[in-house]
Amino acid sequence: MIAPSILSADFANLAREADAVRGSDWLHVDVMDAHFVPNLTLGLPVVQSLLGATDIPIDCHLMIEDPGRWAPPYAEAGAYNVTFHAEATDDPTAVARDIRAAGAKAGLSIKPGTALDPYLDILGSFDTLLVMSVEPGFGGQSFMPEVLDKVRTLRTRIDADDLRILVEIDGGINADTIEQAAEAGVDCFVAGSAVYGADDPAAAVQALRAQAAAVRG
Ligand code: DX5
Ligand code: ZN
Repeated sequence: MIAPSILSADFANLAREADAVRGSDWLHVDVMDAHFVPNLTLGLPVVQSLLGATDIPIDCHLMIEDPGRWAPPYAEAGAYNVTFHAEATDDPTAVARDIRAAGAKAGLSIKPGTALDPYLDILGSFDTLLVMSVEPGFGGQSFMPEVLDKVRTLRTRIDADDLRILVEIDGGINADTIEQAAEAGVDCFVAGSAVYGADDPAAAVQALRAQAAAVRG
């Protein structure tokens, strides 16, 4: 699966930018609050408008403090998947339960420096596990291959226990890096600058998907 990140799109033309990546599996929307990360993007009203402007399922990546308070409304609004950060809450399973109760898939994200081990025993509470391959906050950064150890560990655990969880990766994914991520076991690839920086974003999505599929089979 390929999820273009609209962080690299033209914010004055989001409906058109969503249309530019038709055929994508998810549309990745980065919500930043200028507290959890040193950047500010968009919030619920913009997500609500986007939901009315595209048929692509919306994948909300909440880089915000207090997700227990702010995450469920994104699910109520109709986002397909709502991911929050493990570092932002003491009770990730409770947040996931509220997101699911509000009608969305629930995702947990971990920053590059955050260990996976404390979360391995609660994987069943989530539908997606988003491994950050850059420090969250900005698009266009370089891929950090060292996070792929966490992806391999996840892949092994998910396959061994037959868990229904998607492994998603976010940050620095492009034609040069997607294959190593696919080899490690990623299911869903977020790509911002590699898609919206291309002359033909829809074609870039297809090319990335073909590269990943050739590896994953
Ligand atoms: C970064 C965001 C990413 C970002 C990825 O904090 O979470 O989704 O848009 O952008 P690229 O693909 O350019 O690294
Ligand atoms: Zn993101």
